[in-house]
Amino acid sequence: RILVLDFGSQYTQLIARRIREAEVYSQILPCTVPLATILAYRPQGIVLSGGPSSVYEKKAPTVQKELFDQGIPILGICYGMQLVTHLSGGEVARSKHREFGRADLMIDDPGGLFRGIGGDGATTVWMSHGDRIERMPPGFRSIAHTDNSPIAAMKREDATRRIYCLQFHPEVAHTPEGATLLRNFVYDICGCKPTWTMRSYADSAVEDIRRQVGTSRVICALSGGVDSSVAAALTHRAIGDQLTCIFVDNGLLRTGERDQVQKTFASQLHLDLRILDRTKPFLAALKNVTDPERKRKIIGRLFIKSFEAESKKLKNIKYLVQGTLYPDVIESVSFKGPSATIKTHHNVGGLPARMRLKLIEPLRELFKDEVRVLGKELGLPDEIIWRQPFPGPGLAIRILGSVTKERLMILRGAETIVDQEIRSAGLYREIWQAFAVLLPIRTVGVMGDQRTYEHVVAIRAVTSLDGMTADWAKIPNEVLGRMSNRIINEVKGVNRVVYDISSKPPSTIEWE
Ligand code: XMP
Repeated sequence: RILVLDFGSQYTQLIARRIREAEVYSQILPCTVPLATILAYRPQGIVLSGGPSSVYEKKAPTVQKELFDQGIPILGICYGMQLVTHLSGGEVARSKHREFGRADLMIDDPGGLFRGIGGDGATTVWMSHGDRIERMPPGFRSIAHTDNSPIAAMKREDATRRIYCLQFHPEVAHTPEGATLLRNFVYDICGCKPTWTMRSYADSAVEDIRRQVGTSRVICALSGGVDSSVAAALTHRAIGDQLTCIFVDNGLLRTGERDQVQKTFASQLHLDLRILDRTKPFLAALKNVTDPERKRKIIGRLFIKSFEAESKKLKNIKYLVQGTLYPDVIESVSFKGPSATIKTHHNVGGLPARMRLKLIEPLRELFKDEVRVLGKELGLPDEIIWRQPFPGPGLAIRILGSVTKERLMILRGAETIVDQEIRSAGLYREIWQAFAVLLPIRTVGVMGDQRTYEHVVAIRAVTSLDGMTADWAKIPNEVLGRMSNRIINEVKGVNRVVYDISSKPPSTIEWE
């Protein structure tokens, strides 16, 4: 395995993903972990990420210098390079020109890290740094340069203590040959073999789950989203009927959602699936509630209550399956500080302690795209694998103001049309989320010769990589036009449609 030490770069996850794309397992640790912990992982190579700090600042993050003398090959990227320089007796200084963007890299030492790169001696790379290497540490040699950086890459000439450093970012798409460079590092320099595939992952996860669970019973809160679906399918492959899945229909789902879960998991995968219809208590609890946070809290609490009551009917339950992904794990140990609560998320996080359950989190090591490949491997249908995210509180947070049966019906109608049009325009996968929001106001319109005074629906569609930041989607006007026409014509009670053109930040994806 390869360890990536995180110094706070926005690209750290990308480094790990690129290495995994080379079918080599890689894992991220905060740079603050002690040397002994790093060594306990027995890494075949270590990558030091970039980061926003300057090595000469007082509180700059660092590593124990002894890390460089363990015989483990090291690749320092950007801040990683500056740190190697600083700790090994070289000199880093603020650069006169901040270098940001594409640059032509002249390769002075072909082969090694640069094997097969830059056919005519040069290749395009992505630079993003304010500091630069003034003087290399003893034992290092420059292996590439750009017009602005005489030392854009360097290496230590010591066969048993190999260190390679890059001023540019090989992990980003703007460095077209960066993936090759990272492959050269992990295969040629670290000696890793490409054995980490989703098939091998599934096999070993199945073994792990069997060993962990023994003869106990396991439950899972299935939502129909990619993560809980893949986690459930994987666990089911491992322990079959020892797993029971519970799907809570809170009455806030979209058209056909419950049927699809039923069809996929009960009819096709033969999972022990219990579907609870809790529409009535959820709608009763939400009556006249307009405050978004109150809605979220009520729904979260009621969900836990429903789930707990149902699981009490089962005997010998010791474990709960959760679809926690690797980015959540990194987030909770990340090098950055905690952030403010913007919205109370509805999730099953509180369940294990409350019900005294141990956790099975078979996706803890995976990124979203890897989970999709795994889902395919496990035979899940595309509709599940490629499903856009849908929030736990469901349509309740897309009906601004109070939630009623009538308003749910209107929103469902509009939502179905947005979904159909996005799919038939071939945009479903490239758009992170597209949905309808029902606004708590009415406006005047004219239909036939009659005055109307009806609801307004907003369409929200965003592109995003992880939901943390998002841009409003530039959907072709014809598609928007078709949605608007169909919603106004087909959904009773709506006479106006608007399109949300705000990005996140400062807006959020959901309206509540
Ligand atoms: P916001 O609105 O905060 O949403 O920009 C970011 C992403 O999170 C989803 N979301 C939720 N997911 N439980 C969830 O499982 C929730 O309570 C919840 N609230 C928002 C949202 O759909 C978007 O993908």
